[in-house]
Amino acid sequence: MKKNIAVLPGDGIGPEVVSAGIRVLNEIGRIFNHEFTYTYGKIGGVAIDEENTPLPEATVEICKQSDAILLGAVGGPKWDTLPGHLRPEKGLLGIRKALQLFANLRPVTVYESLSEASTLKEEVIKGVDLLIVRELTGGIYFGEPRERRQQNGEEVVVDTLTYTRSEIERIVRKGFELAAVRRGKVTSVDKANVLESSRVWREVAIEIAKDFPQVELEHMLVDNAAMQLIRNPRQFDVMVTENMFGDILSDEASMLTGSLGMLPSSSLSDGGPGLYEPIHGSAPDIAGKGLANPLATIASIGMMLKYEFSLEKEADAVQQALDTVLSEGYRTADLAREGEKSLSTDEMTDKLLEVLAKVTV
Ligand code: IPM
Ligand code: MN
Repeated sequence: MKKNIAVLPGDGIGPEVVSAGIRVLNEIGRIFNHEFTYTYGKIGGVAIDEENTPLPEATVEICKQSDAILLGAVGGPKWDTLPGHLRPEKGLLGIRKALQLFANLRPVTVYESLSEASTLKEEVIKGVDLLIVRELTGGIYFGEPRERRQQNGEEVVVDTLTYTRSEIERIVRKGFELAAVRRGKVTSVDKANVLESSRVWREVAIEIAKDFPQVELEHMLVDNAAMQLIRNPRQFDVMVTENMFGDILSDEASMLTGSLGMLPSSSLSDGGPGLYEPIHGSAPDIAGKGLANPLATIASIGMMLKYEFSLEKEADAVQQALDTVLSEGYRTADLAREGEKSLSTDEMTDKLLEVLAKVTV
């Protein structure tokens, strides 16, 4: 198989974790006889510095021409004081919108060997395997108007939460499709006791559920969902929710695994290339120090192999290698307990490659 991958390293630890991901992809190519080629693009702060925009047109083109996109992270203190349209985050939001990447999949699986890394009790997190399906191109992130204005001598500020019915339908349907091949349960998360958009969301969920008789549907208010996630996370299979709720819940859910440094994600459209990225962000405080945990990016590569290229065996090999390095006790700084030895980004990647070469699937 020949695939061309658009690579957007971005800012902070983005370039470090992306290069780890590419080493893994190359090794998969070598073992399984695939050819992966890479085309690099700029996004975020680096793009602002070099091209005065967080998302150059050329980057969008590179992504559109690719078979899949690998992204590191965007943002950092250097660009925090710029106006809204010139912030690194705008690049990320822009690429999601330009490619219509409406379905953001954020799996949360607790590795047996990492259960002591979580701040929660082992009996609570043991066996957790849930998937957050977050709407990614609508809601309050994109609604208009968004502005500050003067009204009656006072500053007034507006953000707008908008959804079309079809935007809700396609993401909820995606949630059901995924649940149908998992444990068959959808928790639709909303705030229907307050928001009109959530009331429509709930209506749509009930409607779509009719097409999936084998899948159980439950509705949950987002505040309750936040609480249930740490009270009893094993109750969840697929959680489907709107953009901002999903943003918040997925950071919370990441702590079930012990570190934000473990969570991969994929963002899918209808037919175009998907975008694969760790959810941890640019971590400017540790950038350039070789401390970043590459495992979320490597797990994102696993998702790319599985969801984008339907390379199940290859994806399994990556997963097995991840399981093995963790169960053998290798840790990056974010995962290590006091007094425990931790590996650098490169050392962890070396270990993983060593294991990968020996994995048989
Ligand atoms: C994420 C991030 C982004 C978001 C930021 C960087 C714009 O937090 O991917 O979760 O809010 O979507
Ligand atoms: Mn987030």
